[in-house]
Amino acid sequence: AVLVLDFGGQYCQLIARRVRECSVYCEIKSYKTPVKELAKKNYKGIILTGGPNSVYDEKSPHCEKALFEMGVPVLGICYGAQLMAYTLDGKVGGCEVSEYGKTEFSVTDAESPLFQQVPKTSACWMSHTDRITEVPAGFRVTADSKSCPISAMENPEQKLYAVQFHPEVQHTEFGQQILKNFLFNICECKGDWVMSSFIEQTIQEIQEKVGNKKVLCALSGGVDSSVAAVLVHKAIGKNLTCIFVDHGMLRKDEGDQVETIFRKQFDMNLIRVNAGEQFLRKLQGVTDPEKKRKIIGEGFIRTFEAESRKLGKMDFLCQGTIYPDVVESGVGNSATIKSHHNVGGLPEDVGFEGIIEPLRDLFKDEVREVGTQLGIPENLVWRQPFPGPGLAIRILGEITAEKIATLQDADAIFREEVANAGLNKKISQYFAVLTNMRSVGVMGDGRTYDYTVALRGVATSDFMTADWARIPYDVLEKSSERIINEVKGVNRVVYDITSKPPATIEWE
Ligand code: XMP
Repeated sequence: AVLVLDFGGQYCQLIARRVRECSVYCEIKSYKTPVKELAKKNYKGIILTGGPNSVYDEKSPHCEKALFEMGVPVLGICYGAQLMAYTLDGKVGGCEVSEYGKTEFSVTDAESPLFQQVPKTSACWMSHTDRITEVPAGFRVTADSKSCPISAMENPEQKLYAVQFHPEVQHTEFGQQILKNFLFNICECKGDWVMSSFIEQTIQEIQEKVGNKKVLCALSGGVDSSVAAVLVHKAIGKNLTCIFVDHGMLRKDEGDQVETIFRKQFDMNLIRVNAGEQFLRKLQGVTDPEKKRKIIGEGFIRTFEAESRKLGKMDFLCQGTIYPDVVESGVGNSATIKSHHNVGGLPEDVGFEGIIEPLRDLFKDEVREVGTQLGIPENLVWRQPFPGPGLAIRILGEITAEKIATLQDADAIFREEVANAGLNKKISQYFAVLTNMRSVGVMGDGRTYDYTVALRGVATSDFMTADWARIPYDVLEKSSERIINEVKGVNRVVYDITSKPPATIEWE
């Protein structure tokens, strides 16, 4: 594998994706990981990401000098390049004008292994306020640009390479070629990695780690925890037990579907806890969104604990954490907007020997591919994301059993109509929200005073930003008509045309 060492750059995920596009497996780790630990992993190469900081800032992320002395090829990108220069006693300084955007750069050393098959001049993407002003001993400059005379440097004997620009973004014309040169010519990667080797390798790793011990998994019915559970099940069979806490705020019939798939199709040890009433009691009178999230997150943990205690000693906990979760919940270096309850959510005092997170380095589409290869039904693999707190954060205001049923019905109709129109894989996420607003309507000869349902659809690739989906009017019309006619207590349907930001995808 190749390691992408994260220094807080916004392009970290993108670098990992580009590496895997070259059929080279890669992992992402925080810059805080000690070199001693990294050395054990036999990485073929290490890529240092960019980052928003300046190397001179005391608080900015640094690395040990030993990182560059392992004999493993290193490619520093942007901040990573500056850090390499700084750590090895070169010099870094501010730019007279910070460079941002598409910039022309020139390869000044045609022999450089990093720039093979890259023309003398081409476009690259620059985004920096600092730059390398003096290369460390043993390095030579291999590329320049108008305002950045040291756009790239290398020390081939030590296998150290650095570029000030971003080869991972599309604006860098020959970026992928540069990454390929690093991976294949310098790191000598084979480029034979495919998803099935990830599965084989992961199953083997789980077997080695777990041996004959027991694993407990919190199954939510979402794509991630399902794929993680099936993967672990493939590795250790009946030594895996899954607890599925049904908090009563899942989509229509979802609880039963989960039970059927895992118990019948996969023959897994599955315990379903029907805790709907319990959760409703705790949520009575609560209207504050964060409070709802806390209550459900907390309740989920307590229910899970109580159930797992009945099982006796379990050694490992399996979780379906995927890479974007790691970033979104601020385990990486980015900010937290909402408290997600399913990430790092279970307390450490549950007494597990360790945690198993087989999908921690994967992106969503990769998780789906693993799921498909493992034989998980299509409708589960392609299930859109669903928040841990479920419909609780799609019912504004107080939650009641009646409101849950109303929303479940409205949401099921909307999803059915979107699927009928063949749009279910095209819209990233779509659902109904039960607003707390009632308005006047007329049905038959009578006045009504009922709830407003809001429909929401978004187009996004990473769920960090999203555009409202342009769902065809006739699909919206059909959904609206059916919801009003078939769902009691609803007399108005609206469509949410706000993007993220400024709105979030969920309403709470
Ligand atoms: P927001 O509303 O923050 O949602 O724009 C971004 C994505 O995250 C999902 N989401 C959650 N997922 N637990 C989850 O597992 C949560 O508490 C949670 N809150 C939001 C949301 O559905 C969207 O896909």
